[in-house]
Amino acid sequence: MAEVVRTKQEICERVAAARAGGKAIGFVPTMGALHAGHRKLIERSVSENDFTVLSIFVNPTQFGPAEDFDRYPRHLEADVAAAGQAGADLVFAPTAEEMYAADHSTWIDEEKVSEGMCGARRPGHFRGVATVCAKFFNVVRPDRAYFGQKDYQQLRIIERMVRDLDIPVEIRPVETVRGGDGLAVSSRNDYLSPDERQASLAIWRALKQAAALVGGGERSTRAVSDAVRSEIVRDGRLRVEYIEIVDAQTLEPIVPLEGRMVIAVAVYCNHTRLIDNLVVECPKAD
Ligand code: PAJ
Repeated sequence: MAEVVRTKQEICERVAAARAGGKAIGFVPTMGALHAGHRKLIERSVSENDFTVLSIFVNPTQFGPAEDFDRYPRHLEADVAAAGQAGADLVFAPTAEEMYAADHSTWIDEEKVSEGMCGARRPGHFRGVATVCAKFFNVVRPDRAYFGQKDYQQLRIIERMVRDLDIPVEIRPVETVRGGDGLAVSSRNDYLSPDERQASLAIWRALKQAAALVGGGERSTRAVSDAVRSEIVRDGRLRVEYIEIVDAQTLEPIVPLEGRMVIAVAVYCNHTRLIDNLVVECPKAD
């Protein structure tokens, strides 16, 4: 079982002691409901640092009023056990009152990388994510922090924020962990019935088909995006929120397709919103 601390002061002190002992500090921010994706982040941090801190905090400021903040899965005890098994040294699980002053009024707004994709559909979401991550970085002061490519836009926004604001932490991306059936592991998969999970497999199928199309020489953004859409909607149980094919670094749309790109989708299965993406490399035309 990893040890749990609840206050900013305690986490500050514990990490400062580890740092004073010459330890490199790795940090994995999460909202809990730990799964194989989170475990991979923890394991990576454990292998690259001497002391790993995991945060578990369902951050209210990144959820919209109509989103699933209230029903987001919360299993602190099981999470603490899982964190320990994966090798985390310390779990930081603050309350919302501990994290945010009642009259909190300062926010971080990344204005470019957050424009499209989820940023365009979830107003205020990335403001909440960037702000809470900056707060965590200030409190924990890790040497390295680990973010999954599953939330591709989030990863790029955090990298941009750290660069733009000179926050002294190195951001390390971690590849998406998938189930044996290909579905990207996500806490929100808990909401899916077995039947809905089956339907959701079309997302990964569609992304792989798109990669094959690009690999086969297709350079039309429209053609690839249409192919992704038709595979996803084919059996009628999934609804597309967006399909975007963008530059893998800047997240700007690319037409025609060339260079390193990410094909990113958000899909609804009933009320469950699922996101996934695939990075594809395509040689630049001469
Ligand atoms: P959460 O959704 O709990 O995810 C925590 C971290 O796990 C993120 O970096 C996310 O990209 C990564 N992750 C999730 N599923 C993954 C998978 N299948 N494979 C690899 N990594 C995966 O993302 C958040 O929490 C929050 O926005 C947070 C950054 C903690 C700020 O509140």
